[in-house]
Amino acid sequence: MAIAVTVKTGSIADATDDALVLFQYQGTPWSRALTRVADALGPAFREALKGWGFEGKPNQVVLVHTMGRLPSRVVLVAGVGTRDAVTAERVRQAAAGAAQRARDAGCGRAAFGTVEGGLDPSEAARACVEGALLGLYRFTVHKTESRTDRRELRGLTLLVDHGDRSAVQVGARRGEIIAESVNQVRDLGNQPSNVATPTHIAERARKLAREHGLTCEVIDRKGMERLGMGALLGVARGSVEPPKLIILRYDGVRASKGRSARSRATAAKPIALVGKTITFDSGGISLKPAEKMEQMKSDMLGGAGVLSVMAAAARLELPLAVVGLLPATENMPSGTAIKPGDVVTSLSGMTIEVVNTDAEGRLVLADALTYAVRRFKPRLVLDIATLTGACSVALGQHAIGLLGTDDALIERVKRASEASGERVWQLPLWDEYHEQIKSDVADLKNTGGRPAGTITAAAFLSRFVGETPWAHLDIAGTMWSDDTRHHVAKGATGAGVRLLIQFLIDAAAAR
Ligand code: BES
Ligand code: MN
Ligand code: ZN
Repeated sequence: MAIAVTVKTGSIADATDDALVLFQYQGTPWSRALTRVADALGPAFREALKGWGFEGKPNQVVLVHTMGRLPSRVVLVAGVGTRDAVTAERVRQAAAGAAQRARDAGCGRAAFGTVEGGLDPSEAARACVEGALLGLYRFTVHKTESRTDRRELRGLTLLVDHGDRSAVQVGARRGEIIAESVNQVRDLGNQPSNVATPTHIAERARKLAREHGLTCEVIDRKGMERLGMGALLGVARGSVEPPKLIILRYDGVRASKGRSARSRATAAKPIALVGKTITFDSGGISLKPAEKMEQMKSDMLGGAGVLSVMAAAARLELPLAVVGLLPATENMPSGTAIKPGDVVTSLSGMTIEVVNTDAEGRLVLADALTYAVRRFKPRLVLDIATLTGACSVALGQHAIGLLGTDDALIERVKRASEASGERVWQLPLWDEYHEQIKSDVADLKNTGGRPAGTITAAAFLSRFVGETPWAHLDIAGTMWSDDTRHHVAKGATGAGVRLLIQFLIDAAAAR
């Protein structure tokens, strides 16, 4: 269920929510709000904080009962580290930790105080809401135990001083849309592949389109055959689930008034987003080992991300044109499956020797990229994909792999990374890497062997975007988490979504 977020003007000590959350810096005197609460609660409160060793360090959260001395039942004090080093990410983490503690203490509503000074009030509000909503995420869809007695936080209140109200309102709304978008992606990624089939995702896309005024088209197997998408069809051959190429369009330019004809014309050239949507990656005939194969239900997180980002663009009413493409299929072994050594002809006309059927992501992306560039003539293309195990070897779970052909675009992605708090790390894409994907029998082969696996995969993709500025996000290392760490949920993480939404927000602001 969606958690209601409200912004209210007023003093923290008057809030009637079950829980009060106060942020506190490390190494500075107590904030005004904390001092007020401490005065209301008497010396026992100061003793309790001292007893817990509370210093305001990052991720330190202390819970104290109010014993009826305030309308709220509990007070949570959350550390955000030193004031000099405070970032939105610190606030996100603190809000996540506090929200989780409030929920686990049985609170239905929590009121959050502000982060006094240090951060822009709008940014702080956004970070607070993002952190809380992301941190509260759980995937319970398939649990049959009665969910009515489950502890859930149902409402968040942000308490502000008079002056900041509208800025806080804007930030909180953004945070809400962004966090909900990420949580929707997590839901799709956590759904098993027998639920989240290409057909199911196409239905979701149609529904999203109806709700948010997007255009949705779905190209089926026949359509792919007519177009000549041999690479995508090659991957789909092994599965009984019909493949879908899902296309969503958002036109926020027509809607935006008061712009010059010229700026409208540039804005009309869309940004294209392409997301790998393998609803289950068994590896195909180059079968994966059984261990952790169940995680490959999440090999569609790139596509799920694009779906949510499209909806977010509409909800944020960004004055941009954006097109999203999701090449969706399973990768399965069967009597009809593509075999190592088979050659396919991609939509671009280039032939590809499939030396490893487990390198299927780049095959489906190849045709989707070609299609995106040919049909929509976008001003730039970003793709997002759970593409290579090598990316998680290189960067672990703490950074998205970033590669591309256009330095200016790469810089913009890096800026969005900083603003969103989602880390990226660029890898080189030098000409030499193309040697590794030369085939003896076809124009290209689909793997370059073990060395630089993330780079050779990107080198392969780069052959399908022509001259269009293009950047690629490899989320193989970041898409999944084995445990909940503050706002990063266990299971599908929704990596890349905050980054992409920020990229679009920045693109909209630049015009
Ligand atoms: N979907 C996988 C990559 C992956 C692995 C993502 C683990 C997340 C977690 C991709 O399709 C794949 O199998 N890549 C191969 C490429 C190889 C055959 C060149 C890989 O990484 O081993
Ligand atoms: Mn694979
Ligand atoms: Zn895959």
